[in-house]
Amino acid sequence: MAMQRNSHPSRPHKFLPYLGFIIFSAIFVFKLDIIISQTISAARRNLESTTSTTLVIGNGTFHRHFIQSWGESRARILEDGELLTLSMDKSSGAGIESKKTFLFAKIDMQIKLIPGDSAGTVTTYYLSSEGNHYDEIDFQFLGNSSGNPYTIHTNVFTQGKGEREQQFFLWFDPTEDFHTYSILWNPKCIIFYVDNIPIREFKNAEKLGVPFPKDQPMRIYSSLWNADDWATQGGRVKTNWSLAPFTASYRYFTAEGCIWSYRTRSSSCNSTDFSTKGVLKMELDGKSRRMMKRVQTEHMVYDYCRDNWRFPEGPGPECSIN
Ligand SMILES: *[C@@H]1O[C@H](CO)[C@@H](O)[C@H](O)[C@H]1NC(C)=O
Ligand SMILES: *[C@@H]1O[C@H](CO)[C@@H](O)[C@H](O)[C@H]1NC(C)=O
Ligand SMILES: *[C@@H]1O[C@H](CO)[C@@H](O)[C@H](O)[C@H]1NC(C)=O
Ligand SMILES: *[C@@H]1O[C@H](CO)[C@@H](O)[C@H](O)[C@H]1NC(C)=O
Repeated sequence: MAMQRNSHPSRPHKFLPYLGFIIFSAIFVFKLDIIISQTISAARRNLESTTSTTLVIGNGTFHRHFIQSWGESRARILEDGELLTLSMDKSSGAGIESKKTFLFAKIDMQIKLIPGDSAGTVTTYYLSSEGNHYDEIDFQFLGNSSGNPYTIHTNVFTQGKGEREQQFFLWFDPTEDFHTYSILWNPKCIIFYVDNIPIREFKNAEKLGVPFPKDQPMRIYSSLWNADDWATQGGRVKTNWSLAPFTASYRYFTAEGCIWSYRTRSSSCNSTDFSTKGVLKMELDGKSRRMMKRVQTEHMVYDYCRDNWRFPEGPGPECSIN
């Protein structure tokens, strides 16, 4: 009997287990969904709490942190990502950009500039945001004919406005070996360093009505291109193409600062970080400022703050505090 009932159950008996199964499955899937979403948000909370601090890339590898923006094979990453070279020939230069965007950081990069006759070439290394009202913090290395010094050109753009150039000759030959060029950018100031010696400070002068870069995240960029219409000795000395390709090399970059996420529209740093983390709160102290002033006295070759011909009505108000 039992066997018969089991092998030939009546219709309602056949249907019920399915219904039960469907209801059970629906509840299970619903529950599972809740469990999954709770797990994901917990994981995200954990992730945020461990990363809600400044990011440090120590001795970063180029292939993990940069992409080539233009110039095809003229940007090359070598030695397991430790070395990057940019080169330029008659048809093109090359450029790279960081994958991450920063909202306040200190970036160090070691660069060895083009040896010999580098006239007409410009090697750049800078931070920049996007759009018409971009902010930008610039290092540009203007090449020169053999035996003549490279010019280190610096500039700060805020809300799309630059014209704040300062230029220097270096106290060493930047083509012979790698040297460290750093940009520190926090809410108080921007500082340019060469081998850890400050050469320029651009203080936050919002109180004087000068916009300061503090809302737009920036990427790190570097490029090598031809600018022989203006770069070397006012454009009089042209690029000697028979010496191409021209090559600049980069290694050991480090970054410490706040990562901006476009997805969550938030920074990895919180308000505590800005009062505790060195790079986010520092300014030059008296000793460093005196060191900077000495470098400026001895090595600065152009200062927009003193260019009365170009700015007959006087330079920007920030010049009074920098
Ligand atoms: C900021 O982040 C730090 C480190 O992750 C954390 O210890 C601190 O509680 C956070 N502070 C605030 C105000 O959220
Ligand atoms: C970076 O890493 C390389 C190879 O591991 C090492 O030789 C070099 O000293 C490191 N440089 C810095 C600045 O930490
Ligand atoms: C190149 O050298 C000349 C002569 O020393 C100098 O006047 C000039 O400023 C240097 N730099 C550039 C980019 O022309
Ligand atoms: C360009 O470089 C070639 C090869 O070194 C050299 O012979 C020539 O004199 C250079 N031209 C100029 C204008 O310096």
